[in-house]
Amino acid sequence: MSSAFTLTVDSQGIGTLVFDLPNEKVNKFSMPVMEELEKIVDSLKSRTDIKVLLIKSGKPDIFIAGADLHGFGPAFKDPPLLEKLIRQGHRTFNKIEQLPFPTIAVINGVCLGGGLEFALACNYRIVTDNPKTSLGLPEVTLGIFPGWGGTQRLPKLIGLTEGLGMILSGKPVNAFKAWKLHLADAIVPWQFQDEKVPEFVSLILTENGKKKVLSKRQRSGILPFLLEKNPLGRAFVFHQAKKDVLSKTKGHYIAPLVALDLIKDTYGKSQPEGLEKEISTILTHSKKSSGQAQNLIDLFFVQESLKKDPGVKTTAPLLPVKSVAVLGAGTMGAGIAWLLTNNNYPVRLKDINWEVLGKGFGHVSSLFYKGVKNKKLKPSESSLKFQLLSGTVDYSGFKNVDLVIEAAVENIELKNKIFHELEGVVRPNAIIATNTSSLTIEAMSKAFAHPERFLGMHFFNPVNKMPLVEVVGSTKTSPEVIATAVEFCKKIGKTPIVVGDCAGFLVNRIFVAGANEVMWMFQEGVPMKQLEKAMLDFGMPMSPFELSDEVGNDVSYKVSKALETAYGERMHCPEILHEVYERKLFGKKIDKGFYIYKGKDKKPNPEINKILSIFCPKNPELTDSMIQDRMILSMVNEAARCLQEKIIGSPAYLDMAMILGTGFPPFRGGLLKYADELGIEYVVTELKNFERLYGPRFAPAQLLLDMQKSGGKFYSMPSKQTQEQSSRPLAKASASTLG
Ligand SMILES: NC(=O)c1ccc[n+]([C@@H]2O[C@H](COP(=O)([O-])OP(=O)(O)OC[C@H]3O[C@@H](n4cnc5c(N)ncnc54)[C@H](O)[C@@H]3O)[C@@H](O)[C@H]2O)c1
Repeated sequence: MSSAFTLTVDSQGIGTLVFDLPNEKVNKFSMPVMEELEKIVDSLKSRTDIKVLLIKSGKPDIFIAGADLHGFGPAFKDPPLLEKLIRQGHRTFNKIEQLPFPTIAVINGVCLGGGLEFALACNYRIVTDNPKTSLGLPEVTLGIFPGWGGTQRLPKLIGLTEGLGMILSGKPVNAFKAWKLHLADAIVPWQFQDEKVPEFVSLILTENGKKKVLSKRQRSGILPFLLEKNPLGRAFVFHQAKKDVLSKTKGHYIAPLVALDLIKDTYGKSQPEGLEKEISTILTHSKKSSGQAQNLIDLFFVQESLKKDPGVKTTAPLLPVKSVAVLGAGTMGAGIAWLLTNNNYPVRLKDINWEVLGKGFGHVSSLFYKGVKNKKLKPSESSLKFQLLSGTVDYSGFKNVDLVIEAAVENIELKNKIFHELEGVVRPNAIIATNTSSLTIEAMSKAFAHPERFLGMHFFNPVNKMPLVEVVGSTKTSPEVIATAVEFCKKIGKTPIVVGDCAGFLVNRIFVAGANEVMWMFQEGVPMKQLEKAMLDFGMPMSPFELSDEVGNDVSYKVSKALETAYGERMHCPEILHEVYERKLFGKKIDKGFYIYKGKDKKPNPEINKILSIFCPKNPELTDSMIQDRMILSMVNEAARCLQEKIIGSPAYLDMAMILGTGFPPFRGGLLKYADELGIEYVVTELKNFERLYGPRFAPAQLLLDMQKSGGKFYSMPSKQTQEQSSRPLAKASASTLG
């Protein structure tokens, strides 16, 4: 391996160690890199010519991204290897800490996980105000926790409350926050770091300057004293931290709780004792929770592979997208307009009159206001971005845009009319995308003289929060149009997944199968409270009742009906949804649905019980696990059909789409990973039982039956990630026109 580190020492005794991992975009710690670092640190011990050592990165916008998970992931199944890796990190960072001259980490860009633990072992940290600079210990998001001294050095440096906050949430902080927390001793302008860093070096090389810098780290005031310097205060901090973790994770994630206990056990003890305890806790934790950690690490790799995936194989160049028009300023159109302007794209927003357009502008402005309130944007930035939005009630300005995203009401006749008008006004090479949720791209493409430039870009509601975009072509969409849409979604910070064309596409199709089942159980008389509890205990972020109220029961009903039209009896829309729709209980938007909403409070709507009596519910006694099986296995069954019909080629991508589109609990590893864990034999047996008890909608998909016979698993199927345009067959149901 060619060297990852370069050491230079100038005539003034200022040493600079630059980390620049060869042939990689980012710096990360692997075993060979750590070995090399340790050797360098060993050689530095006896250097009398060095007065101070600066540690820098040779990569733009990245200091150190953390440990190389490709090397570390497998170690979770191999305790001796894991222990060796942890001890190597501890030893090296301890040696850095003990060098006979001051060490300064100069952090310009991302500094995460092992990268921050390395920086914490240095005597000082300088951050640049580069917007990419972020410092954090995100390990708990991968089911593990900091193991190279982070649980010991961070709380000691920035205090228990803030240290716990960063470690237990896994959320990084930006440069300014890092400086405010005294995680960084100085913040310097990014463009002038070459001038400003030497000033800091001169400062800490004087006794007074050093004292001044170190004294700033002292946390004075009554609060740190009350909370951290006495046992009662500390007990309160730990109690609050646990409450916070449990309320955020519902107790499903093990790593933050273990990290919390570890810090509680070691805070205030000597560093060697604390570090030893860190090692033993990791080794015990890896035995108990390796499944959960492995699931989360696997998902991390799927995310990484999606980042690199062009979505479709094509050699044709991508089309330029510099400006966009959005058609429809309702819930989705306004959300998309905000997303685009927030990513600095000029946007032309069209609706049918100025009144609705005004409401759309109001929605966009409220999202920018939120950004300012949450300190994600400065007021000046937000107003500059908002100025990128212009409105129209005709097609003026549309001839200049590269992409149009249609988000008008879900009605095929209206959409067809809009497409016809659009083709007359946009440039011949402009891409036209629809955000439809239940119509098929194939059916709509018939309205086009040039269907090759038309595709689906299915954003999820609320657009500002949901990371997924399903990218869907018809049989006529050109590959470069799909590849351009995929690339564009990445540029605006979303995760695009290319899926085949069918009613409901991938995510809604699978989710509705499960949500319908919950409604069926409700109609049978299973109490709403029990259904909700079973779903939340499984790890779903909210129950289908709350979700339906949130999206609008009118929308849920129409989508469910559309899928019934497409897939027939197995997707029969539960009558309860029809009744709720007929009574105009549209959910949160009118403060009345399955729940009644008053400000932030909600209580069950008594009208729903009256509706229920129509179905003569028998109140069957179902256990929570039977409820979970009925919902989740319905989804597994539909997911198997999607794989069978090649709506998606890879179980891992399907799982990621369900996580990003519906909040399926990541700690379960994904819908199909969960099915594999249950065992295909169990899945098929249960589906057959349910088929006998509740009807043919549970008949197992052919793929499941085949896997049962062959002893296969979803995750051992040959999987195809990038879609091949020519071989992407259309699902049977997709030819129908819905909505
Ligand atoms: N709401 C959701 O949860 C959701 C999620 C994903 C996708 N979608 C899809 O997004 C699209 C829009 O949904 P929505 O919830 O934002 O609907 P909405 O009713 O909130 O907004 C639709 C907007 O389109 C406008 N409109 C109608 N005709 C128009 C025309 N000729 N030109 C310009 N604007 C016109 C309407 O005035 C309205 O403001 C639908 O296709 C829907 O299926 C919705």
